[in-house]
Amino acid sequence: MKSGEQWTSRLGFILASAGSAIGLGAIWKFPNVVATSGGGAFFLVFILFTFGIGLPLLLAEFLIGRSTGKEAVSAYRDLAPNSRWHWVGYLGMATCSILLSFYSVVGGWIVLYFIRAITGSLLTAGRDYGALFDQTSANPWEAVLSQGAFMLLTIVVVARGVKQGIEKASRILMPGLFLLFVVLIIRSLTLPGMSEGLVYFLKPDFSRLSSEALLYALGQSFFCLSVGGSCMVTYSSYLQKNEPLGKPALSVVGLNVMTSFMAGIAIFPALFALGMKPVEGPGLLFVTLPAVFEQLPYGSLFITVFLALFLFATLTSAFSLLEIVVAAFAHGDAARRKKMCWLFGTIIFMLGIPSALSFGVGSDFVWLGRNVFAWADFAVTNVMLPLGVLLISVFVGFRFPRERLQAEWSGESAWARKGLALYVFMLRFVLPVIVVLVFMHGMNWLPI
Ligand code: PFF
Repeated sequence: MKSGEQWTSRLGFILASAGSAIGLGAIWKFPNVVATSGGGAFFLVFILFTFGIGLPLLLAEFLIGRSTGKEAVSAYRDLAPNSRWHWVGYLGMATCSILLSFYSVVGGWIVLYFIRAITGSLLTAGRDYGALFDQTSANPWEAVLSQGAFMLLTIVVVARGVKQGIEKASRILMPGLFLLFVVLIIRSLTLPGMSEGLVYFLKPDFSRLSSEALLYALGQSFFCLSVGGSCMVTYSSYLQKNEPLGKPALSVVGLNVMTSFMAGIAIFPALFALGMKPVEGPGLLFVTLPAVFEQLPYGSLFITVFLALFLFATLTSAFSLLEIVVAAFAHGDAARRKKMCWLFGTIIFMLGIPSALSFGVGSDFVWLGRNVFAWADFAVTNVMLPLGVLLISVFVGFRFPRERLQAEWSGESAWARKGLALYVFMLRFVLPVIVVLVFMHGMNWLPI
């Protein structure tokens, strides 16, 4: 977005925030954490956290952004002058930078798979897609160059601020992605032997839900909704004052849960039907997808289109991640903005190189069972985002000047207006306590 530009309409804002939210989180990460966390009950807890904590927090970030009309760091400064609260904005920038550093590695894999798909070299009957993924991610040149290509695309688009083009494209491409998911789901659910996978994904089995899994579900819900990094503060600052926030927030949450559900139901039944196991790891999607598409007529064509749409969804999330960092330093100056895009884009690319190399030459760098990539993911998803959520919740609950909050809130529907006191109470006491307890429990710091 160019400085001073605003979203063209309410739909434009919904598309942009849904574009930021829907990406690798729902499609790549979700099935992966479900597998790590033993399936079943995880989805239920994830939904609970998404609606119970993610949604109010998304609204909180929206309120900060729309009320101030400023990017994250200045927004906190505006609402709480002469305090240290603007550090929450800097924390968001750090979070988004590390997030983008490993996000772009996965983005790079999609680029590679997409290139293979258009050149017709991806789908071959009976191919071992596990081995293909291992080779792809282990090859240092491919990993780093594809990560670089993904970052380059992100930088070029954010530097140009082609917001309207993205909005227009989202209107066609996002429904296109959903449509292809439906095709995938139908194929997955008609494969013989799929029911075991369906049970694995949907039948809650709380005995398999470890304390870590609870934390993963919490982190996953924040990651998916893009909350905790103040990214949505910056996005909603481009919104006109009189636009309501409740509907966009609900749409983003609803679309996200739906996408996660679709990803799960496309992956797990097929996985079991094709005789694979839900092994944890970042390769899950890249191993399963080609195997399912191979079972479809015109599979090569379908997977090419799917990967193109998936790449688009991933890029729109990456744009929002770079946007928060750049907006904080651009100070509304278009020329400076361009420079900042290249500067921070390059820094983030370099920051991501160790993650890109984690599956090949860097695979020996393992500490407590995690490589660099997994540590970056863990630190962001399960530590930095929950910390950001905690601080934003406390900030809006206690520090957001009450008259301004009331004024912001008054544009919402009549029933919502009545709920302000309850909302503030939740932000002050309920949400922070849950986040802290789940975090401590997940780290095994609690005696229970
Ligand atoms: N929500 C994005 C996804 O699920 O792919 C990732 C993300 C974007 C997280 C922006 C946080 C953020 F600020």
